[in-house]
Amino acid sequence: MRLIVFIVLLFSGVVQGQDLKNVQVLPYKNTREIVPYMKGMAKDLGVKCSYCHNMKNKSLDEIQHKFIARDMMSMVKQINEDFMTPMKVDAITCWTCHRGSTAPPHSIDDKPKPHEH
Ligand code: HEC
Ligand code: HEC
Repeated sequence: MRLIVFIVLLFSGVVQGQDLKNVQVLPYKNTREIVPYMKGMAKDLGVKCSYCHNMKNKSLDEIQHKFIARDMMSMVKQINEDFMTPMKVDAITCWTCHRGSTAPPHSIDDKPKPHEH
């Protein structure tokens, strides 16, 4: 019986392509779902995938920007769940603050900084 359950689970995983290895915050199950999000998010920050990823293996946690990005994803999720949704206003995104820069301005006198490696 256990073996059958295991085989069924394994099979459904393969069919749905659950191929992600190290996704702790985002709700996506496979590459097909996560890549469109990543493309939009990279644009929101004005960076390429390699800003956060070892391009040989994107599941590795090696680059500091990736750790910060994961925490920012948790922050955005929490703000939306705890505040935006209850207030019935549109969800915030990375763009809400970042506007195409890795260092969004903190005050009206700050100039948005261009992307730096
Ligand atoms: C600003 C940082 C950042 C950029 C830029 C970025 N990613 Fe990511 N990516 C992450 C983080 C953080 C995670 C893990 C999310 C989590 O834990 O929920 C992730 C996870 C992934 C994963 C899942 C890997 C696995 O199996 O664990 C894939 C695939 C991926 N990204 C593809 C891309 C692609 C393609 C691009 C460029 C279009 C890109 N990413 C740009 C931060 C980034
Ligand atoms: C509430 C505003 C806000 C939101 C929303 C936000 N960020 Fe940020 N983010 C900031 C600020 C402010 C900084 C620090 C900029 C600086 O250093 O001056 C920052 C810094 C970062 C950095 C660090 C850049 C570096 O130098 O390493 C990354 C990566 C990042 N954010 C990713 C994200 C991602 C991904 C999202 C969406 C999931 C996001 N942020 C959403 C405000 C925000």
